[in-house]
Amino acid sequence: MLSEVRFEGVHKIFGTETAVEDLNLTVNAGEFLVLVGPSGCGKTTTLRMLAGLERPSYGRILIGDKLVNNVSPRFRDVAMVFQSYALYPHMNVYDNLAFGMRARGASNDLVAQRVRETAEVLGLGHLLQRRPSQLSGGQRQRVALGRALIRQPQVFLMDEPLSNLDAGLRVQMRAELSRLHQRFRVTTVYVTHDQVEAMTMGDRIAVLNAGRLQQVDAPETLYDNPANMFVAGFIGSPRMNFVPGRLASSEGKASVSFLGITTPLGTGARLTAGAASGDVTVGIRPEDLMWRPAAGPDCTLTLHAEVDVVEPMGHEAYVTALCAGETVTSRFPPRSGVRTQESVELALNPARLHLFDAQSGITILQRPVAAAAETLRSVGEARTNEPAEGRSERHRQPEAPLAPSRSEEIS
Ligand SMILES: Nc1ncnc2c1ncn2[C@@H]1O[C@H](COP(=O)(O)OP(=O)(O)OP(=O)(O)O)[C@@H](O)[C@H]1O
Ligand SMILES: [Mg+2]
Repeated sequence: MLSEVRFEGVHKIFGTETAVEDLNLTVNAGEFLVLVGPSGCGKTTTLRMLAGLERPSYGRILIGDKLVNNVSPRFRDVAMVFQSYALYPHMNVYDNLAFGMRARGASNDLVAQRVRETAEVLGLGHLLQRRPSQLSGGQRQRVALGRALIRQPQVFLMDEPLSNLDAGLRVQMRAELSRLHQRFRVTTVYVTHDQVEAMTMGDRIAVLNAGRLQQVDAPETLYDNPANMFVAGFIGSPRMNFVPGRLASSEGKASVSFLGITTPLGTGARLTAGAASGDVTVGIRPEDLMWRPAAGPDCTLTLHAEVDVVEPMGHEAYVTALCAGETVTSRFPPRSGVRTQESVELALNPARLHLFDAQSGITILQRPVAAAAETLRSVGEARTNEPAEGRSERHRQPEAPLAPSRSEEIS
């Protein structure tokens, strides 16, 4: 059974501080939902409430159709990998992995089989006899991940599980976790600071800021149609450029002026009901602001700028330039040869502009979502309704009936 997870009007207040404010969020059954947001925005608190380690101050939390507000952690069938993970120091890796299953009365054969499979997936096979103190930080983190994976629960909660791994291992584990999710489709809420993890792993991404949910959408939709400046600035690296602009409308045609130029709004995009002529904030992603010689025919707008900083990244270069008194960042090809203080021409496709209300920061321009992104999204939605094929094999393994003796799995 795949379980949906629902937060309904959930608040968490610590003393005078509101850590999570009026959270309404449904994680679809079998979905991999990535939760992102700046430090202190309430990500861990949200996971801990779902795991049963914190009680919501108000609101309801449901797993499947069951209200779990008063259900203790060990009866929720949720496995959590913590930001600061805890392993049993006196047990070796094998026993750390096996502990939860043994506590539930699984047979030795089944335990041995699952430990072997899990250790293989995580590259821990040769470390099973070691104690945590004899492991590197990254190896310990993988054991912590293994303790959650081996349980095959209804819901996985992961709080930056890859943050201690080196770059290579991170990429490998990212792919491995995605493969595991493809196979077992366990409903997952995954917290990360890593943009690439968020964009590549998430069926959808939920963005939190200061305890409030800003937007939840498929990665491409979030990227192409951010709901507000916070989401626009948070998703994407380097960050979206924001410059002041003015929106004008005459005879039903809207145009926007910014950085010393004026352009009609691109075809396809439409202003929202709340859009009004006057001051706006214009958003331009660095990859949409191109070096003229490298730009395609769609880039009909030309801006003159003076280069301030060139940051070579290998496969490309980030160029920070001064344009009509504003500092903007653009992405250049790797060997453009441009230097500091050089004058350059930048090119922009007007269809790639973002517009935000100058006061509220809320988007006032709905851009068409790329056809490919739409398809991806509908596939994502469809597959959450599929029966859980593939995952049944291991789930049907005879395991002794749950005899939850200790709450160790979650703490
Ligand atoms: N037990 C607690 N008592 C008081 N305040 C708390 C408690 N736990 C969390 N907070 C506060 O609630 C807010 C949200 O904390 P939380 O740990 O959920 O943030 P986070 O998004 O996980 O941040 P990070 O990315 O740094 O891990 C923070 O301001 C934090 O100080
Ligand atoms: Mg946290």
